[in-house]
Amino acid sequence: MKIIVTGGAGFIGGNFCHYMVNTYEEDQIICIDKLTYAGNMETLAPILEKENFTFYKADIADRKAIFEIFEKEHPDIVINFAAESHVDRSILDPEVFLRTNIIGTSVMLDACREYGIQRYHQVSTDEVYGDLPLDRPDLFFTEETPLHTSRPYSASKASADLLVQAYVRTYHLPCTISRCSNNYGPYHFPEKFIPLMIANVLNDKKIPVYGKGENVRDWLYVEDHCIAIDQIVRKGTVGEIYNIGGHNEKTNLEVAKTVLKELGKGEEYIDYVTDRPGHDRRYAIDPTKIHEELGWLPGTPFEAGIKKTITWYLENRAWWENIISGDYQNYYEKMYKDR
Ligand code: NAD
Ligand code: DAU
Repeated sequence: MKIIVTGGAGFIGGNFCHYMVNTYEEDQIICIDKLTYAGNMETLAPILEKENFTFYKADIADRKAIFEIFEKEHPDIVINFAAESHVDRSILDPEVFLRTNIIGTSVMLDACREYGIQRYHQVSTDEVYGDLPLDRPDLFFTEETPLHTSRPYSASKASADLLVQAYVRTYHLPCTISRCSNNYGPYHFPEKFIPLMIANVLNDKKIPVYGKGENVRDWLYVEDHCIAIDQIVRKGTVGEIYNIGGHNEKTNLEVAKTVLKELGKGEEYIDYVTDRPGHDRRYAIDPTKIHEELGWLPGTPFEAGIKKTITWYLENRAWWENIISGDYQNYYEKMYKDR
């Protein structure tokens, strides 16, 4: 099978390409990535020379470029990871989020219609459901929870989901959607909370915790997300949405303390900074459907996953130091200098 993976030079798409190339040698994995600030060819270096891997540098919102790739490759399956993904950036500059996350998705869907595919899979997020109160631990996001977005990033992702559903209904395009909770693991860009903390501590800098650190996220090891998507694509039902999560809710402060403890540092490294505007309070996925229908369960508990992640950052310093020494530095200044 020929499988197009967009956004494969990013965090989750990169991990997914590694997983697919190494698991299914008989399949051809074709990665399309624009290589924005978040795209990094170093992430793909271990599989770049593999015979079952091909890379195209292209923008998913560039109709001509995408149609040319489809004309050449005639894929069987398309999995769309490509997105602007960082919430803080979407607050600073929403427009590029709309272009990539909405227009880009529409171009991918149109290419699938034109050339015909067995399956289009949209990688979405639990953020489309909005947030949950901190004092209601009994509440979870199910696939029936109404869309209730609270920032440009999630609004753009929800718009893309609605487009996918429209293409299923109107054109009978065989699509699925997955909505996952927060991922962590290797190749995570060091602007996101967990890798930012690890990189800062390894550089003997404090870690910025927004507000009081009370907000809750539901953390999933990235490989478990990759396996879930693979199962949805192979066994999931067309037209369905699948939530992905492992019931692993933690406050940001708990996560910060865990990272500091693993790195042998104390709480004096925590720097409480001004909160994110409209900061979503709690995300919590109910993964019953994917478990009951597809048999998926997460394989890596947080305690083991965070150790593996920290070890990876210790052993791959060059990967994240190259990022921090580049364009990322300007963004960091802009984001944190007045906090
Ligand atoms: P990321 O920012 O690390 O990677 C995004 C990749 O997409 C980069 O390689 C970038 O170069 C590429 N890209 C961006 N714009 C593009 C364009 N116009 N054309 C082609 N490529 C483009 O993101 P991530 O954290 O790996 O997230 C991947 C997907 O998973 C996104 O759709 C995101 O919404 C979703 N998601 C992420 C998480 C998470 O915790 N990170 C959780 C749930 C869902
Ligand atoms: O839930 C899935 C989403 O998870 C994905 O759709 C997004 O693409 C992904 O970026 C992530 O969004 P979050 O906003 O939850 O992730 P982030 O790593 O930016 O922040 C995690 C939590 O940590 C959040 O409550 C904000 C807080 N935070 C973040 C940063 C960057 C801090 O306290 N300090 C920081 O410096």
